[in-house]
Amino acid sequence: MSARLALVCILASACGTEPPQPGTWYGDVGAIVRTKCAGCHRPGGIAPFSLHDYADAVEEMRRMIDAVDKGIMPPFSANDTPDCVPRHRWRGDPRLTDAEKQTLRDWVAADGPEGLVRDLPDVPSTTLEGSNVELVPAQPFESSGTRDQFVCFLFDPAVTHEQWLTGSQVFPTAPEFVHHVNVDLVPPGDAEATIAALGGIGVPKTQCDNPPGLPIQSWLPGNPALVLPKDVGIPIEPGTLVAIQVHYHPAGGIGTDATSVSLRLSDDKPAWNYELGVYGNAAGPPNLQPGPGDPASGPAFIIPANSPDHVETMIMTHRADLSRELRVLSVTPHMHLLGTYQRASVLHANGDDECLIDSGWNFDWQRSYTYDADLDELPLFDASSKVTVTCRWDNSFSNPNLPRLLYDKGLAAPYDVRLGLTTADEMCLADFGVVTPN
Ligand code: HEC
Repeated sequence: MSARLALVCILASACGTEPPQPGTWYGDVGAIVRTKCAGCHRPGGIAPFSLHDYADAVEEMRRMIDAVDKGIMPPFSANDTPDCVPRHRWRGDPRLTDAEKQTLRDWVAADGPEGLVRDLPDVPSTTLEGSNVELVPAQPFESSGTRDQFVCFLFDPAVTHEQWLTGSQVFPTAPEFVHHVNVDLVPPGDAEATIAALGGIGVPKTQCDNPPGLPIQSWLPGNPALVLPKDVGIPIEPGTLVAIQVHYHPAGGIGTDATSVSLRLSDDKPAWNYELGVYGNAAGPPNLQPGPGDPASGPAFIIPANSPDHVETMIMTHRADLSRELRVLSVTPHMHLLGTYQRASVLHANGDDECLIDSGWNFDWQRSYTYDADLDELPLFDASSKVTVTCRWDNSFSNPNLPRLLYDKGLAAPYDVRLGLTTADEMCLADFGVVTPN
């Protein structure tokens, strides 16, 4: 606030008591943009321009409403379609409500009035309250600034007795270069092999397409911390390691980054365990269903070259030993560069077919979707539940990611893409965060 404005405020004793002026930046628009956009669009943030303050936002206002109307911004791919409306809302859903969109639209139509200057909310907090373990790289990574790079770091949280993880958060030191980060737990039995594969603890391992371990968090800049609900924790055995895969994207210039991770570990056994239920990636029958382009030998996971919309569907039942109550808290779709869509549903014993997620897929905007509901309201799986996962891909030049893939492979034309671990292969995975009674 300028000195002159501050003075006016003192004289009029009006600061904060002036009624907000609807339809202006300081009236209501700024608060929407601060909470829904400025987590990324701020000085030093990941986005290419700031929307944090009036002067910046008013300059971009027409692009803003355009990106919102097209559903490009804020990046969030879960849909409500006539065919799929999940029973619960998503926690921390960043999308603008219809009323907020209208407020933004009216503001743009009125040429972006500023209104009476007053305090605006700051961007939503992304810190993890009560964190007690800090995992920091021993050696930072220097990103090229000209191409996408996937780099893994392995950390040792030095767990010596059984504990429960109740939260985690990611902190890049050069956020403008960090596009997303996947956080995985490496079980003690895999620790030695993973240390060898990643070249040691705390050091960058380049060309790390596929992070080792079980994913617990898919993080985007501006996203809040992973905070498990009360009475829920992820069991952590002694010797467990933490691996992160950082996607560095070209942001111009060379960036030096040392992304750290904060964990919140507890000694108290929670009432519910959080685990990962990974469904998908079926290479053949019986789980993989017949689809277009299958060879005479039967269903196969092949995305034919030049196919603009290839679909594969998989149906999976549970392990036969599933006797405990199992509820789905979150869904993290996972595919590679050519993916465009994922849908997951569960067929219950009583014949109800419950849609769990219907989501666009954008490799650059991977994230987890968590239901905003009490634990006993969450979708239930039992031993007879059948889970269906459907994925779609565009393996043609209408997919803007295809040139990226071909460049990486040194090829000029699309090729038949198969199931596999590297980004040159494809995947169709629904990672469900599930809770089970302890
Ligand atoms: C999670 C981070 C994030 C959030 C939240 C976010 N943006 Fe963006 N935005 C970006 C990034 C990064 C880009 C650069 C393009 C890209 O990588 O997709 C971008 C690009 C844009 C563009 C340019 C699009 C184009 O086609 O050139 C506009 C306009 C925009 N954002 C507006 C908004 C508005 C308005 C909001 C809030 C309603 C918002 N963004 C929320 C990260 C974000």
